[in-house]
Amino acid sequence: MSESTPTTIPQSWYSCADIFALENEYIFRKHWWMIAREDQLANAGDYVATTLAKWPVVIIHDQQGILRGFHNVCRHRAGPLVRDGRGRCTDFVCQYHGWRYDNSGNLLKTPGLKAGEEIDLEEFSLFPIRIACWNQMVFACLDSDAPELLDWLGDIVPRSARFPVNNTMEYHGEILKTGAFNWKTYGDNSCEGYHVSRVHRNLGDSMGREEFNIKPYQNGEFVGFDVSYSSKSGDQTRDGKGFWVYKFPGLLLHFSEYACNAESVIPIAPNQVQITRWFWVDRTLANERNISPEKMITSSAQVMDEDMEICSLVQRNLNTGIYQSGHLSPREEVGTIYFQQLVRNALEKHLR
Ligand code: FES
Ligand SMILES: [Fe+2]
Repeated sequence: MSESTPTTIPQSWYSCADIFALENEYIFRKHWWMIAREDQLANAGDYVATTLAKWPVVIIHDQQGILRGFHNVCRHRAGPLVRDGRGRCTDFVCQYHGWRYDNSGNLLKTPGLKAGEEIDLEEFSLFPIRIACWNQMVFACLDSDAPELLDWLGDIVPRSARFPVNNTMEYHGEILKTGAFNWKTYGDNSCEGYHVSRVHRNLGDSMGREEFNIKPYQNGEFVGFDVSYSSKSGDQTRDGKGFWVYKFPGLLLHFSEYACNAESVIPIAPNQVQITRWFWVDRTLANERNISPEKMITSSAQVMDEDMEICSLVQRNLNTGIYQSGHLSPREEVGTIYFQQLVRNALEKHLR
């Protein structure tokens, strides 16, 4: 094999439970994940509970005004504090036997325990996780040694500074999907523009091929490109300039002069991901450009559906085992090469 055509990571890594277990430990646990928006947690008691890789977690705005995150795991016998979703509560009351915690994580009451059965409440606070916010997005991280959020985002922060910040725009909706494929199948696809003209015919028509010039930044920790939609197809949803980013392992950001979207790709199982894409828009600027925010979401959803469909078909083929590995083009698939190298770097020393 030529040095100039790197080999893909092995097919078995796209479905193997052992690989997924290593990824949980050595990739998912070590990075930041966008799991909520700040406006969802604006008032005391507001919470968002979700599953982050294998970990059920909950973020809550506590009575002191601090955003806190916890494993959604009771200290008694691991019951859930709340069901996945959004809500508001003064205290967490475990769904199993009713142990009660304040929303700063302190155990308050253990109903039903009799004299002589009491425990030291202070020893049974909830397990905390790290929470940090940037640009209206709320991130969680499970590793106390991981870098701070802004360091993890790195040059994305200054590079996005020329675009409007999300709190000057209106939150405009979300797309939530579950994909029947491995998170890397989607990551491989997201990091290259090679497939665009075939898979996204409308999008491909509105962008020049040279405009998918995806480049690695910071040793491939993120890949991105400057978007300059030319509206060759007359599609008014895509006018203007922007900056698109894939930040390893599961964050996509798309900044433009009048809108922003953020997408979180959360691995749930070897063959399952949860994908959420949130949209913010400056209606005035969009109106000035004759762009309909509604149409923008519809168009974005179409592109997402096209990506998800091709990823499902690729995953189905990977699962057959007929294909072991392939080759990547250093010119067309440089982002995918960096994405796969980060996966290899994280896992290789832990493989027997
Ligand atoms: S598991 Fe929570 S009260 Fe029993
Ligand atoms: Fe795509």
